[in-house]
Amino acid sequence: MMSRVAVAILTVCFLSFAQAADVVIIKFSHVVTPDTPKGLATLKFKELAEKQTNGRVKIEIYPNSQLYKDKEEIEALQLGAVQMLAPSLSKFGPLGTREFEVFDLPYIFPNKTVLYRVMDGEIGKKLFTKLESKGLHGLAYWDNGYKQMHSNKPIRTLADFKGQKLRVQSSKVVEAQMRALGASPQVLAFGEAYIALQTGTVDGGENTLSNIYTQKMHEVQKHITISDHGYLGYGVVVNKKFWEALPAELRTTLEQAMKDATVYERQLAQQENDRALAAIRALNKTEIYVLPEAQRKEWQNAFASVYQKSEDVVGRELIQSVKTIAAEK
Ligand code: LMR
Repeated sequence: MMSRVAVAILTVCFLSFAQAADVVIIKFSHVVTPDTPKGLATLKFKELAEKQTNGRVKIEIYPNSQLYKDKEEIEALQLGAVQMLAPSLSKFGPLGTREFEVFDLPYIFPNKTVLYRVMDGEIGKKLFTKLESKGLHGLAYWDNGYKQMHSNKPIRTLADFKGQKLRVQSSKVVEAQMRALGASPQVLAFGEAYIALQTGTVDGGENTLSNIYTQKMHEVQKHITISDHGYLGYGVVVNKKFWEALPAELRTTLEQAMKDATVYERQLAQQENDRALAAIRALNKTEIYVLPEAQRKEWQNAFASVYQKSEDVVGRELIQSVKTIAAEK
């Protein structure tokens, strides 16, 4: 016969096992370091989600490509090996949703007001619905900011780009942009960029200052041109089947946590880019060149062909809709 104490212990063990089994685990994989806007926002989301669901949800974060690189992480999400990701908007193209590359058009967003109108309005919603048939559900748009050029050779005039191999994300629009400048685009996963720059497999690339700094790219790059020529943002996505199987009230709580984490994330983007620029300047090892207006105009003229070519990739109407928003007061 079991003693009462033994029965009590067994009961407690059973209950805690049952409770543990009830905890929903969300594996959130990403490719940047924890001290970037995306990295910090995933931590904020974890904190809010775990607290507001009273521990019914546990978020496990896997940063810095430690689990998967760019292409693999999207496959892992579709297969359900992880539940959440926040890939850059340039990385949804290979899924067959090239429309997201409208965000990659050079100089398309004159300011963040226009950007947020696009992300948070009808366009952002419509783009997310395109992911549903791919087994993904969009939860939020996160910001990282404007991209700058970096290289071991100066990149100021169009002539400078000639012959340079520049690392790009898997975006047809970005590839067209690099070709229009005269460079040769090389698609590489983010997790492979540093080593490619260090070994000279590529001369340079384009990224936000916070990404350049946190990946230590500046340590192997002699030049950065502050050009703000392109935009880098994210789509926070969840595996659709997993999401739909969650109890409705849990989904509502997680949506709220995501909303709050998004406000926090967007506040960080500019701040982290400013901080990275100051830190790189202080090291005094990378030449920082601010693209003057006249040269910016030259680049912009070269980009006319990118807009033309991109009509086939993202659709003429979509480009026009974004331009219309940009022209609004
Ligand atoms: C890149 O590949 O350069 C970026 O998308 C990385 C990131 O997630 O910010």
